[in-house]
Amino acid sequence: MRAMVYRGPYRIRVEEKPRPRIEHPNDAIVKVQLAAICGSDLHLYHGMMPDTRVGHTFGHEFIGVVDEVGSSVQDLRVGDRVMVPFNVFCGSCFFCARGLYSNCHNVNPNATAVGGIYGYSHTTGGYDGGQAEYVRVPFADVGPSVIPDWMDDEDAVLLTDALATGYFGAQLGGIVEGDVVVVFGAGPVGLYAARSAWLMGAGRVIVVDHLDFRLEKAREFAHAETFNFTEHDDVVVLMKRLTDHLGADVAIDAVGAEADGNLLMHVTSAKLKLQGGSPVALNWAIDSVRKGGTVSVMGAYGPIFSSVKFGDALNKGLTLRMNQAPVKRQWPRLFEHIRNGYLKPSDIVTHRIPLEHIAEGYHIMSAKLDGCIKPLIVPNPA
Ligand SMILES: NC(=O)c1ccc[n+]([C@@H]2O[C@H](COP(=O)([O-])OP(=O)(O)OC[C@H]3O[C@@H](n4cnc5c(N)ncnc54)[C@H](O)[C@@H]3O)[C@@H](O)[C@H]2O)c1
Ligand SMILES: [Zn+2]
Ligand SMILES: [Zn+2]
Repeated sequence: MRAMVYRGPYRIRVEEKPRPRIEHPNDAIVKVQLAAICGSDLHLYHGMMPDTRVGHTFGHEFIGVVDEVGSSVQDLRVGDRVMVPFNVFCGSCFFCARGLYSNCHNVNPNATAVGGIYGYSHTTGGYDGGQAEYVRVPFADVGPSVIPDWMDDEDAVLLTDALATGYFGAQLGGIVEGDVVVVFGAGPVGLYAARSAWLMGAGRVIVVDHLDFRLEKAREFAHAETFNFTEHDDVVVLMKRLTDHLGADVAIDAVGAEADGNLLMHVTSAKLKLQGGSPVALNWAIDSVRKGGTVSVMGAYGPIFSSVKFGDALNKGLTLRMNQAPVKRQWPRLFEHIRNGYLKPSDIVTHRIPLEHIAEGYHIMSAKLDGCIKPLIVPNPA
């Protein structure tokens, strides 16, 4: 089969790889119809994620058709159209029983902190991902769901990560009616978080980024007030000015480890690897929120530590909430919102790229060229 293969930082190729096979009775093999490139894939692409091995196939956002099932699979049949959450999870361990699917204890022999994620290095279990013609889906009765007939493929693929994550980010904000919510980052996760904040009762939604075309999408798609942080001396002072000098009720970090906006942070993280990410957006979130407010962190950070302004968070009495999104937990409510027309996830898709050209897709997404917000990958273009 054809598959995206990692060859080293900034080096992606499409190669011939053996088609995955059933390795366990509860596996399924899915023929991928549509995949996506996530902002998280860029951390792999940039060589930021430990134990990203040459030969690994990325891709944790994908949908497809069941091609083969193991002998114990009960709920899926060959030919079913399925959406697969980015988490690999067992459904029955201590953590899964509490809905913490992204923290499953049975799927990742390489680390205890994080569960399994498709196509996301051996640090998250070494599962090959869905930027390929076929993918092995373990725990096939647990993770995937059959795509409802009324749902578009492009909406379904966005539910496997970006949309569920943005929605989860807003949920962790604990938004109550009338809250002022500021979202750092106008990528897919930030756009969906901002849009979801309204669904949860926000009174005002502000989005901060430095890419004007993404801020335009934040106004259009998420109906947000927007600010380009490069046009202001101090984005925190700006946030205070906008909120009677109190600060926002809720701040959401939808940027993560590769944040721009502070050279020292960039050098100590990306270049010198002295910290597990550049927490610029997270520190802005801590400083921009009011005392007693909530900071929700969806942006991804590497292991060990980062220079987060923890003392300020403590002294302000903040609530800090975060996790990798337990995607399937968000589906029932999001299905309703999409079906009722409150949300059209595919409105943020900007590119549809054949698998053979995926290297170009990574380059465009990484450098944010050509108005790129969300690129989809099509393994077998019609
Ligand atoms: N927790 C989860 O389950 C989960 C799931 C998906 C993605 N993520 C993470 O969420 C983050 C966003 O993902 P995405 O797909 O939207 O990525 P993306 O790269 O498309 O978007 C990130 C945006 O942040 C902007 N940005 C950079 N520095 C900033 C700053 N200091 N302040 C404000 N904006 C800034 C960039 O210009 C860009 O538009 C990534 O770190 C990704 O790894 C986490
Ligand atoms: Zn992702
Ligand atoms: Zn589990």
